[in-house]
Amino acid sequence: MDSVPPAKTLATVLDGAGAFLAKYGVDSPRATAEFLAARLLRCKRGELPARAATALPEPILEAMRRGMRRVAAGEPLQYVTGQWDFRTVTLKTDRRALVPRPETEELVSLALAHPALRAAAAPLVLDYGTGSGCIALAVAKELPAARVVAVDVSADALALARENAEALGLASRVAFVDTSERDLGDLLEPGSVDAIVSNPPYIPSAAVDRLDPKVLAHEPRLALDGGPDGMAVLRQVAEEASMLLASGGGLFLELDAESGQARPMAAYLRELGFDPVRAHRDLAGAERFLSATLSDGL
Ligand SMILES: C[S@@+](CC[C@H](N)C(=O)[O-])C[C@H]1O[C@@H](n2cnc3c(N)ncnc32)[C@H](O)[C@@H]1O
Repeated sequence: MDSVPPAKTLATVLDGAGAFLAKYGVDSPRATAEFLAARLLRCKRGELPARAATALPEPILEAMRRGMRRVAAGEPLQYVTGQWDFRTVTLKTDRRALVPRPETEELVSLALAHPALRAAAAPLVLDYGTGSGCIALAVAKELPAARVVAVDVSADALALARENAEALGLASRVAFVDTSERDLGDLLEPGSVDAIVSNPPYIPSAAVDRLDPKVLAHEPRLALDGGPDGMAVLRQVAEEASMLLASGGGLFLELDAESGQARPMAAYLRELGFDPVRAHRDLAGAERFLSATLSDGL
């Protein structure tokens, strides 16, 4: 009689999956395999070691193989798992919007530390270019008194962000605006906003053209392309911020560290009446954020 084949344990599956993904050049292959397995097993990644010896049933093994094939073909892991953690919120993630990035969590930390948000009893916060809603929803969750307006020009992104707000029970405090259809200036009083946080598209168009085709095949170009110098939407956000923010209000921008946008954008913000304007490095040491306070009048 044939011997019964050994059961595939989580440990052996993770070893095999990590090796498979490494062969296809996937970044952090072991971690990727773990995130995928954790999603399929409906647990946190940190809980996997305790389950290392568990035998995985065939449907889970098959789903793991399918997921690995998608990631190996270049699809972002976050679209394959269909959800991703961003600070204090778990978001649905799919190809309607950019995958939330860890750097953007740091941008939210900068905003939450600003005096304009700590002082106001019910601060009004604008998330400009909301995508999945990650910034707006983390702010709403972490600042329970805040009212948040989330804008985008992509109806797809706004639909996803709304779904996320509903799922998180935050929809009553977050308004969504499609600025391809409505002008923000018609909706918000000048000087009424306490903070504007934005991770807009900031990659220069020519650099977007040179991106790995796998990236462009999955993430929306509208979320990446910031025009000829990458700063078209950054300038637009800065200009609108100079009208919408209250005196002392804060503007927090994520930008492209590689194309050296911090210095010219800081100069532009000073021209628009922001002072102080500060550049901040991300955890990898790249100059990726600007924070700016709208100064009092002329
Ligand atoms: C880099 S993605 C960031 C999405 C999300 N905030 C995040 O951090 O993951 C930029 C977002 O800005 C939106 N966008 C592009 N141009 C815009 C514009 N002119 N006004 C408002 N939103 C814009 C895109 O549709 C996209 O959802």
